[in-house]
Amino acid sequence: MTHAHFNDEDSNTSHNPAFDNVLQARLSRRGLLRGTAALGGAAALGGCATSSPVAPVQALGFTPVAKTTADRVTVPAGYTARVIYALGDPLSASTPAFKNDGTDADFGNRAGDHHDGIEWFGLDAAGKPSDRFASRGLLAMNHEATTDEKLSSFFLHANGGTSTLPRPAAEIDKELMIHGISVVEVQTDGKAWANQPASAFNRRVTTMTPVAVHGPARGSEHLVTKYSPDGTQARGTLNNCGTGRTPWGTFISGEENWFGYFTRDAKDDDARKKDKQVQALNRYGRKAGAPSRHGWESGGTSDTYARWNNSAVGASAKDDFRNEMNTFGYIVELDPYDKRAALRKRTALGRLGHENATFARVSAGQPVVAYMGDDARGEYIYKFVSSAKWDPADAQPANRLAAGDKYLDQGTLYAARFKGDGTGEWLELSMDNPIIAGSSYFEFKSAADVAIFTRLAADAVGATKMDRPEWGGVNPKNGEVYITLTNNSNRTPASVDAANPRAYTDMKAGKEQKGNVNGHIVRLAEKNPADAAFNWDIYLFAAEADADRASVNLSQLTDDNDLSSPDGLVFSKATGVCWIQTDDGAYTDKTNCMLLAALPGQRGDGASKTLAYGNQQVTTYVGKAPTPATLKRFLVGPKGAEITGITETPDGRAIFVNIQHAGENTKMADVGDPAKFESQWPANAGYGAGQRPRSATIVITKNDGGVIGS
Ligand code: FEO
Ligand code: CA
Ligand code: CA
Repeated sequence: MTHAHFNDEDSNTSHNPAFDNVLQARLSRRGLLRGTAALGGAAALGGCATSSPVAPVQALGFTPVAKTTADRVTVPAGYTARVIYALGDPLSASTPAFKNDGTDADFGNRAGDHHDGIEWFGLDAAGKPSDRFASRGLLAMNHEATTDEKLSSFFLHANGGTSTLPRPAAEIDKELMIHGISVVEVQTDGKAWANQPASAFNRRVTTMTPVAVHGPARGSEHLVTKYSPDGTQARGTLNNCGTGRTPWGTFISGEENWFGYFTRDAKDDDARKKDKQVQALNRYGRKAGAPSRHGWESGGTSDTYARWNNSAVGASAKDDFRNEMNTFGYIVELDPYDKRAALRKRTALGRLGHENATFARVSAGQPVVAYMGDDARGEYIYKFVSSAKWDPADAQPANRLAAGDKYLDQGTLYAARFKGDGTGEWLELSMDNPIIAGSSYFEFKSAADVAIFTRLAADAVGATKMDRPEWGGVNPKNGEVYITLTNNSNRTPASVDAANPRAYTDMKAGKEQKGNVNGHIVRLAEKNPADAAFNWDIYLFAAEADADRASVNLSQLTDDNDLSSPDGLVFSKATGVCWIQTDDGAYTDKTNCMLLAALPGQRGDGASKTLAYGNQQVTTYVGKAPTPATLKRFLVGPKGAEITGITETPDGRAIFVNIQHAGENTKMADVGDPAKFESQWPANAGYGAGQRPRSATIVITKNDGGVIGS
């Protein structure tokens, strides 16, 4: 239990005694109040983080956490981490507690699996949107996937489930519902945070939730399905990875590895008469005959299951789901404050393996700009520039999704080309670019085609193939853009370039790992976010501390801050700290995945560096090496887990971090024997029933109530 005090200030005018009573009753029911004294009257709830801004953290004030393979969440001395929201937790008052033995049902009213990106949306005491009250808010988050082996999400089924086709509909129905997004209310009484299962804000979005298609692809012939004969509606969202928060206060979710959920018949190329879709399907990872990840198509003849067979089996696209895959791969926008409002797929931001979307600082009268990564080996970095110019009144719009329509439905998409001299350019992906309109590589007929077949458009213009672009973040101090490149096992000495300059061998438990094994973080500086030109360097090369400092550990990392496979990257708006999270499989013989805090400088603060590969050389630009004072390990997660999203209260005194797929290397055959689970977290941290590992949100506070990282 933390001793943090979030509410050092006296309560202010926003304090609402009626709300206190309701909150007190709720907390009391949940056993979170230790008698009335614990509540402490108005001051304890009161709350409000005042209007004074949090001072940026100038020096990281904590002792770094050592690398560890312990099956727990480790945070620095003086901090406390508590689990507050795990797979299966009820999102309605009438949903029974999670038994965690594979018999639970009703996942439409429970937390989904594989918690990923997460964003905070504040509420005031009366439950109205507010970024000033720091004791009550909504956490909106992605539930990317499930821990699976041989088709089955085995921890969700009593006996591990069915690993051969056809799979029982009852297992599939459960798996369809644990993917998507959740919105959950959380509150603190000044002593401990807890989720609020009875909150009217709680919401689940799944693979079955209706979603409206917006932007240039709306109504395209390539989105016509039996479900939406006019190509304007999609059903559900899938493999939701990174998140973002728009300047108008909505939640953004990126659909990442959606293609793997679809099967295609072996003869589907012929059935489609080898039309241009075949080229696109191959480019997006679904060759004819590809099997689906879970066999969801095998549950029966109803559309619930048939939609996962992306083959031309009917008389026309209106009679089957040959285009169903084209309805996934977008940035999806959700209004976290209005559970009745339908989600919108923002197709102007392109169709790719989206991670997150991070927004440039907005300026009145200037376009809204978002940066995005496409996470696969050799894919691209993108940016979207809105046609509409920013109106500061839209920071608190009357209709949040209408603001989304205004800024995200019309605009121009670009892909990045990195040049060897440290400059770069954004290449326009539109029918106004003759390279696209006149392409002999792929037939682009319309803006809809560019929005749907975005990767092919970026191929056509010759964007730079990167080492798996993941999250982007914008430094609030100077507007520079950071994008993680998590690793790339396909990178070879023959294919290195200035922006992806490393290809090397690292040993893990006696086995060779090759390519860009540990990843890096590229940094872009633009005069204005809408500019077509940029300058770049590599802020950080991830590496093991004892790797060669001349060719691999180029950022001179030490045991206090070495890392592998950076993925999540979020700048704190409260403190300016750059949080870096890992999703690693390369260094896991020595340490579980981790969260680091950084205070980066600016592009160009380092020097050029030439790497030699035989007779060949490549020159890159390395940012100033971090020191133990500017980059420190803050957290190490449990076994098998990836550290995913992170968000914070506006006062910077609580951060929420997602822990995804602890125990993911457990064998399906061992599902009945907890002793053989790779992890038993968070049950082994005292949270919840059963011993099966669960993805979960944790909240971290400083025991003295201070600002995180200070
Ligand atoms: Fe879902 Fe690229 O991480
Ligand atoms: Ca190693
Ligand atoms: Ca990720």
